Amino acid sequence: MPAPELLIDTDPGVDDALAILMAHASANVVALTIAAGNVGLAHTVGNALNLIDRVGAETPVFAGCSVPLVFPADDAGFVHGADGFGDTGGLPSRRTASAEHAAMAIVRLAKERPGELTLVALAPLTNIALALRLDHALPTRIKRLVVMGGAVNGRGNTHRAPAEFNIGFDPESAHIVFSEWPAFDLVDWEACMRHAIGFARFDDLLGSGDARARFYTAISRKAHAFSLSHERSGMILADALAMAVALDPAIVTRSERHHVAIEMSGHLTRGATVVDWDNRLGQRANANIVLDVDRHRFEELVACALGAREAPPSR
Ligand code: BDR
Ligand code: CA
Repeated sequence: MPAPELLIDTDPGVDDALAILMAHASANVVALTIAAGNVGLAHTVGNALNLIDRVGAETPVFAGCSVPLVFPADDAGFVHGADGFGDTGGLPSRRTASAEHAAMAIVRLAKERPGELTLVALAPLTNIALALRLDHALPTRIKRLVVMGGAVNGRGNTHRAPAEFNIGFDPESAHIVFSEWPAFDLVDWEACMRHAIGFARFDDLLGSGDARARFYTAISRKAHAFSLSHERSGMILADALAMAVALDPAIVTRSERHHVAIEMSGHLTRGATVVDWDNRLGQRANANIVLDVDRHRFEELVACALGAREAPPSR
């Protein structure tokens, strides 16, 4: 299978960074469009430019929305560091973001390359919702959408227990995308927890000696400590898992198609992803919910991004 052409909407962020390294190791990355989320937009854009420096690519970076569509939301700097990269205070890139807004860039690129692009959504869905408002036909122009977001059984990772961060940060945008995009792959937080990579194994991969691994060791130190202090079973690499699904659809070993809606108003449940597991409402299934992936293949793709092995054979 030829390597996919990727358009990545992202808010780097430690796990976004790994996903972006993975993408550049095994696919053609057409652009990064950047949202606020894990930290503010100035940092997420700066981090994206910094990553492009690291991989030595010419991938264009487009800055997008600095706030959610309707209500303000708290970022996740307590996990990713106030700068989004573990408070490493890296040198600013000499590159700059393109002048075009991220939402406009998504619309334009999809029109220029109809049916070719895989859109990988690793951030709150603000830019993509706005792009959908600018172009209702966007889903017909995109080959495939993979979304990292949600908690399909209500075990989220935010202060509203059932909400996962990307959806909880901007539920209105998530609602627009989930209700208007006819079919997408959903990699939710609970799948990411099930596919955590053990700390010892991840340390092995980071020990490759490659410059990308040294960089990733530095930026992930704070997230690593957070994971240990929260008694996680290993490193939960949410965006990296979604990227693996985008790079290699055959990695999915179990999935189910269901209708998923977004709760926007619940005092305790705002941002929850509500799955109609038994099709009680008779609504069209919009989400292909990824339940299991081939762990070995996932680790191979991560290892390759960190220089711990050669590019895995494509299949
Ligand atoms: C998602 O939220 C962000 O903190 C991560 O980068 C990931 O996209 C996980 O809930
Ligand atoms: Ca992210």
